[in-house]
Amino acid sequence: MAKKTYTSALNNPVFRTISKASKNLNLESYAIGGYVRDFLLKRGEAKDIDIVAVGSGIELAQEVSRLLPGKPKVSVFKTYGTAMLKSGGIELEFVGARKESYSEESRNPAVENGTLEDDQNRRDFTINALALSLNDENYGELLDPFNGVEDLQKKIIRTPLDPDVTYSDDPLRMLRAIRFATQLDFIIEKDSLDAITRNAKRIKIISKERIVDELNKILLADVPSKGFALLHKTGLLPFILPELVALQGIDEKEGQTHKDNFWHTLEVVDNISKTTDDLWLRWAALLHDIGKAPTKKFDKKLGWTFHAHEFVGAKMVYKLFKRLKMPLNEKMKFVQKMVLMSSRPIVLASEVTDSAVRRLIFDAGENVDDLMTLCEADITTKNPKKFKKYHANFQLVRDKIVEVEERDHIRNFQPPVTGEEIMETFNLKPSREIGIIKDAIKEAILEGEIPNEYNAARDFMLKKGKEIGLEVIK
Ligand code: CTP
Repeated sequence: MAKKTYTSALNNPVFRTISKASKNLNLESYAIGGYVRDFLLKRGEAKDIDIVAVGSGIELAQEVSRLLPGKPKVSVFKTYGTAMLKSGGIELEFVGARKESYSEESRNPAVENGTLEDDQNRRDFTINALALSLNDENYGELLDPFNGVEDLQKKIIRTPLDPDVTYSDDPLRMLRAIRFATQLDFIIEKDSLDAITRNAKRIKIISKERIVDELNKILLADVPSKGFALLHKTGLLPFILPELVALQGIDEKEGQTHKDNFWHTLEVVDNISKTTDDLWLRWAALLHDIGKAPTKKFDKKLGWTFHAHEFVGAKMVYKLFKRLKMPLNEKMKFVQKMVLMSSRPIVLASEVTDSAVRRLIFDAGENVDDLMTLCEADITTKNPKKFKKYHANFQLVRDKIVEVEERDHIRNFQPPVTGEEIMETFNLKPSREIGIIKDAIKEAILEGEIPNEYNAARDFMLKKGKEIGLEVIK
């Protein structure tokens, strides 16, 4: 095959520096992996570049640093034989070409030095094994021993070696295959897909953090359902998100069925991905129905019910985040809140009263828009009339939220009369009564009995105090 040269991929002056450093050390070097793939796919500016040296990657990094203005710091990872430095906002990762064999129990490879071909062989996919020469004699030449360029054109994910070897060497690659297929809208070649299915249980040896990294990337793709459908098809999903697997299937009793909540969930995730790039809102969409599996019941009168599934689901979110070592911080709380409140606007849509809207704004607080976005994404009916009607109803709710919020300022509700003022007015020490009065004021505002204003709230406080037998001293 004709040799192809892509010097335009090497416009960044740092490549010439690497080339010079390689010459000084009398070794060969290549730009390899994601950088070359993304250049050929025209996927935009790269933030990191992998360089492979036929020799010591660490020494090459040190020599490159010596030649660069300001001599950037080299971080060395001895155990992996890699080194990293930053130049002009780009992270350069250096590694020596190697042959690798992995042990069955862990991802950590036993490393042996190798040639460029050895190194390309041990990479995950043909499209990630593309290398560009940084050596004088063939600077910019593409080295593509497995027809990775053809796979890029045909949009195929394929392994350089027998897929059973590639995936069992490093089971994370099973998730990477699915992630790339989702991100790039590629097809995983059949042999590969079969190998993933055969090796699925080996995902157990991969750390939760790495798994979640890939899940996040799948969730952030344009059409995340593609990835989750593949995780399901290959049998990886039960090892990662069994809560979702439990949603799959349709039961029938006395001629009544419910929808398949797994496929419904995937539709919701795709829907929400058209309107938001917020990872955590996408997680909320993915998990919004997980409480439906454990709460599912058949009732002779009501048919299929999922009583309190939002509450149960919110609790499951915590357990799931904990199991996957995801952050147990405000992001998790946000997802919990969305799951917990996921049915609220639906109930509302049939009758949009001011007080119900005030309560929704009060409970959802600053997340009320996100909640509406989730509920709109939850509309997956295939009946065009219903689809239109539900969306129109939610638009009414949205309009009402704006109207009520403009008038009543509930979103960041602060009680118009403070606890201190209540104490002073009735000469109270900290006590139950203060809570009772504060709550009554809040309720009166939410119900629309009084406006969210100081004077009205103070009058109401005096009236309520009298009712519960308190005396005004001030
Ligand atoms: N690689 C591999 N097996 C892995 C991880 C990485 O063979 N489990 C190789 C691939 O050649 C990959 C390169 O290492 O292209 C760099 O990996 P990484 O930076 O994780 O991924 P990229 O391909 O650069 O893609 P992205 O930045 O989208 O993750």
